[in-house]
Amino acid sequence: MYRAGVIARYGRYLPVSDATPEVSLGEGWTPLIRSRRIGPSLDLPQLFFKYEGLNPTGSFKDRGMALATAKAMEAGAHTLLCASTGNTSASAAAYAARYGLRAFVLLPAGGVAKGKLAQAMAYGARIVAVRGAFDDALKLVRALADVPGVAIVNSINPFRLEGQKTAGFEVVEQLGAVPDRVFLPVGNAGNITAYWRAFRELHEREGLPLPRMHGAQAAGAAPLVTGKPVARPRTIASAIRIGNPASWEGAIRARDESHGSLEAVTDAAILAAQRRLGAEEGLLAEPASAAPLALLIRMVDQGLIAHHERIVCIVTGNGLKDPTTLTRGLQLPASVVPSVDRIRKLVSRGRRKG
Ligand code: F0G
Repeated sequence: MYRAGVIARYGRYLPVSDATPEVSLGEGWTPLIRSRRIGPSLDLPQLFFKYEGLNPTGSFKDRGMALATAKAMEAGAHTLLCASTGNTSASAAAYAARYGLRAFVLLPAGGVAKGKLAQAMAYGARIVAVRGAFDDALKLVRALADVPGVAIVNSINPFRLEGQKTAGFEVVEQLGAVPDRVFLPVGNAGNITAYWRAFRELHEREGLPLPRMHGAQAAGAAPLVTGKPVARPRTIASAIRIGNPASWEGAIRARDESHGSLEAVTDAAILAAQRRLGAEEGLLAEPASAAPLALLIRMVDQGLIAHHERIVCIVTGNGLKDPTTLTRGLQLPASVVPSVDRIRKLVSRGRRKG
């Protein structure tokens, strides 16, 4: 059977009607993968990764973008407009391409990972590189809300969060239970707001328990941790290089109502977690997407996690989006002559355990 998108799968819980087109690129229903090596090494046998990097454009953004695009079409818009650190722009560009809309994307100049920029270009978006940070670009987008025929598809568009909440439903369906804790990266704070909404809805609808929400920000871009906007956010995790999140209150509410936390992790810890996801689990995450694991590892070190807990880390974006960071500090392999003897020696030398 073909793969249905989030509107087909979860339409009954979304603000759609017969007038809403069923926009889809086959987004959603990404795998929930049980950790094989990191979990056991942390004495957490029930650690899972929700691999959102397997969405059609390689990030979780496609869920909300499917619904936002559908609602924009329903309203007669001809252009999708967004500011983005990269993934939102790639997603908007793809859905616009598929449905014959224009995509206009405002990116922080020099602040977007190569793979994401390549996507936006390949999907045919009009790209504006703004001299400034993501926050400056979002300010411009907000000021353009009155242009006729234009739909803003940042997460200030309520349909983005509605579509995004389907990821929370999936986690519970796939795990067969509500996890004890959910760890996810926080930038503009739409995602944590949407997950919390999903868990609250399941709680109200089906009486399910609520998980604790743990949001990881990068240390140089952690306004929700310090309590004040950051004028010049800095971090290697460009996806979450955001100084003044639009869904600020949503993140605080998710933290407080769930008895969770919003915490900062260093770039070094993010990169170490990213390497472990690749080398120990076979999962490529972009840097932002490794921040939750970095936070979890620290909390385990601090003795804050009980070993029987069911924990889900959301891997929000595919590592292929940011090859520069992925290969930083690595050396390209030297070439060898095509000699069986030579290569036999190399292959026979040692095997990895695990
Ligand atoms: N992870 C990835 C890979 C992201 O691209 C983003 C946000 C986040 C986490 C944080 O999610 O903003 O809802 O708190 N990316 C946005 C973008 C800002 O423009 O692509 P959030």
